[in-house]
Amino acid sequence: MANVIVVGAQFGDEGKAKVTDLLAKNADVVVRYQGGSNAGHTVVVDGETYKFHLIPSGILYKGTICILGPGMVIDPKAFMAELDSLIKRGLDDSCLKVSASAHVTMPFHLTIDAAEEDSRGSKKIGTTKRGIGPTYADKCDRIGIRVEDLLDPEVLKAKLEWLVPKKNVILERLYNLPPQDPQKIFEEYVAYGKQMAKYVCDTAALIFKSVRERKNILFEGAQGTLLDLDHGSYPYVTSSSPSAGGACVGAGVGPTIIDRVIGVSKAYQTRVGEGPFPTEQFAELGEKLRQTGTAWAEVGVTTGRPRRCGWLDCVLGRYAVRINGLDCLAITKLDVLDEFDEIKVCVAYRDCKTGEVHKDLPSMAGAFARMEPIYKTFPGWCTSTKTCRSYSDLPPATQQYLNFVAQELDVPVAIVSVGPKRDQTIVIEDPIHGPKRVLSKAH
Ligand code: IMP
Repeated sequence: MANVIVVGAQFGDEGKAKVTDLLAKNADVVVRYQGGSNAGHTVVVDGETYKFHLIPSGILYKGTICILGPGMVIDPKAFMAELDSLIKRGLDDSCLKVSASAHVTMPFHLTIDAAEEDSRGSKKIGTTKRGIGPTYADKCDRIGIRVEDLLDPEVLKAKLEWLVPKKNVILERLYNLPPQDPQKIFEEYVAYGKQMAKYVCDTAALIFKSVRERKNILFEGAQGTLLDLDHGSYPYVTSSSPSAGGACVGAGVGPTIIDRVIGVSKAYQTRVGEGPFPTEQFAELGEKLRQTGTAWAEVGVTTGRPRRCGWLDCVLGRYAVRINGLDCLAITKLDVLDEFDEIKVCVAYRDCKTGEVHKDLPSMAGAFARMEPIYKTFPGWCTSTKTCRSYSDLPPATQQYLNFVAQELDVPVAIVSVGPKRDQTIVIEDPIHGPKRVLSKAH
């Protein structure tokens, strides 16, 4: 029995879904604990590509309980569309569960997200416009609508009659947009409630029962550490807690049941949306990273926006190790670096205002935007790693690169991914049962 959290160690889009898929094979329960349809998780199985936004990728394994946890925000329209398309492709929904306490993204959340974003001008965050921020804002304001409300027409009607006029003030007065009709929303969302009812339950109780039965539980993070509301590059963050601590709150479990935390990082760095990105590469180099390999083209799964690309940043990697208490790393998309003559890794920052050198992140606020990367340069391996299936198959220069990253971050690299397919994976050491190194070293 092992309960494992998989988190993104960067700005999201690290290839977490492939790692989750690998580990889900031995999981009895897979839980999404935060975020909503802003996530885009891609898994390739037998030549078929599956893109998940709300539903845990564990649904690819028949009989695995898949949970949308209380910490999530769920757009019922997006949920039903995603589920319908998965069912049409032959996937089984009999083990899918949705938390009654998860919050619901309503039409006014989507409109307000887009309107707020447009109104920010040069200060925009680059949100996915999926209504995530406004849904979480209502949750914190204690005026949100929860999944359980969709199942109770009387409660839903009363809540909408109170809430929609308030939102209409914002829509009309602040953004000059048409008001929304509470009755129309009520009718549409009661219908979603009927469709979703069979999946809805107390998922935290279900997880606890699974814990007591010594089942294997996998907590699937969305987004990444640097998009965490508390620990990310605020304000250029999402509105939830993707880091490991968020798994306990968002799923409704105590931290004592967690056995391992696995961080997923690309072999380089990407970011979608706005915000500081010290190792970002522009022009040819960034474009080469973005375009390498058709299957790996760097565009957002949810928004189709091109991802900003750059060299791996070990300062941010060390930060992710610390914030999440990572036990080991899964390095993905290593093959994207196959054709580079030289490869750089950021090992420290120089503050361009004071000249100070920082091995660790000085502060996530203002200072982060002033950091210039200090690089160590490695020779490229200039050969394909796509068919490598063990560590010893990898070229010596690739091994050198991976060893350096493990040393810089002070955690072992347990898994390496060299392509989108399930078998394009190298397991260097057991990611679940290895020693708890983070406890034994000085960070
Ligand atoms: P929001 O989550 O839509 O509010 O967007 C806030 C920030 O997080 C923006 O910079 C988005 O581009 C980014 N973001 C949200 N979800 C993801 C994701 O799944 N991958 C990468 N970036 C994301």
